[in-house]
Amino acid sequence: GGDNLDFEIRPASQPVPAVERAALMANPGFGRIFTDHMVTIRYADSKGWYDARVEPRAPIALDPAAAVLHYAQEIFEGLKAYRSADGGVTTFRADANARRFRESATRMAMPHLSDDLFLGSIRELVQVDRDWVPTDPEGSLYLRPFMFASEVFLGVRPALEYLYCLIASPVGSYFAGGVKPATMWVSTEYTRAAPGGTGAAKCGGNYAASLVAQAEAIEQGCDQVVFLDTREQKYIDELGGMNIVFVLDDGTLVTPPLTGTILPGITRDSVLTLARDEGRAVQERPVSVDEWREGARSGRIRETFACGTAAVITPVGAVKSRDYEFSIGGGEPGPVTMALRERLVNIQRGNAEDPYGWVQ
Ligand code: COI
Repeated sequence: GGDNLDFEIRPASQPVPAVERAALMANPGFGRIFTDHMVTIRYADSKGWYDARVEPRAPIALDPAAAVLHYAQEIFEGLKAYRSADGGVTTFRADANARRFRESATRMAMPHLSDDLFLGSIRELVQVDRDWVPTDPEGSLYLRPFMFASEVFLGVRPALEYLYCLIASPVGSYFAGGVKPATMWVSTEYTRAAPGGTGAAKCGGNYAASLVAQAEAIEQGCDQVVFLDTREQKYIDELGGMNIVFVLDDGTLVTPPLTGTILPGITRDSVLTLARDEGRAVQERPVSVDEWREGARSGRIRETFACGTAAVITPVGAVKSRDYEFSIGGGEPGPVTMALRERLVNIQRGNAEDPYGWVQ
């Protein structure tokens, strides 16, 4: 075992036939269709990482006492591969995902997967399943690396055995409405992450904690839940599965700071970088719901958008809570939001120069 493993390739003997694949990819939605293969790498405390494989995608046999099923020691990542104009395939900032995966592992008391293995797994899977990378300009191949405690043990301590796995899913837009402005439900009852908790780690538990509030959002006719801070229930943290950014009337971007309770989004970071480099002021500071509501009313806050790998940049048109409702920018997609979206997407898809070395 170690960090210089070679991947053993076991090609699927019955891959999805090309015609069927094309039909599946015609209207993929998000996260329902999967490629022919997956990567698995095992870890044991006694020998490190071993048995790196590219193999046919299949159910994973787990002992019912596998620690993850009881104590949720699990982390994941999300990134996308794109079809470039020359027919090749590129990924966007995969090195940043590799780093965040290590940081999540640290918080969840899990072993580190080296960047070489993380990036190698992506390279191998994208290579073997390259026909699953959509060619249409809205589509991409969503890559989902994850790792969980596979040790058979019910004691509560960091497990001694893990399975790393990578699967891939051709996707279109995360929201059924595409870039149509999304609506937000501000939860005043549930919170997501407290200081000192796991909010900054990309662990399944954070998403589990969001679901009852997300269900409430859907019940209220909204797309996403907005979580507030745990101390005062006053400041905006993030959405159920993405970060949030506000655009002021003078063009300034404002977004909640990375103080440990929110996920350090790679799209968030990319957007802030693009904004700074086009000369915009960027403020990472707390934003209260009162400021949002009052700003939307007065026009001080012109636009709001959600950002994430899955969501890309999605405008927010309306906000709802138990006691109030308001719209932003007349419920229409804002010009700054859409310009940033276009700038980002053009870099991601190789339609614009990439001065940052983000496309690999
Ligand atoms: C992402 O990849 O953007 C996520 O955060 C996961 C989920 C919202 C699909």
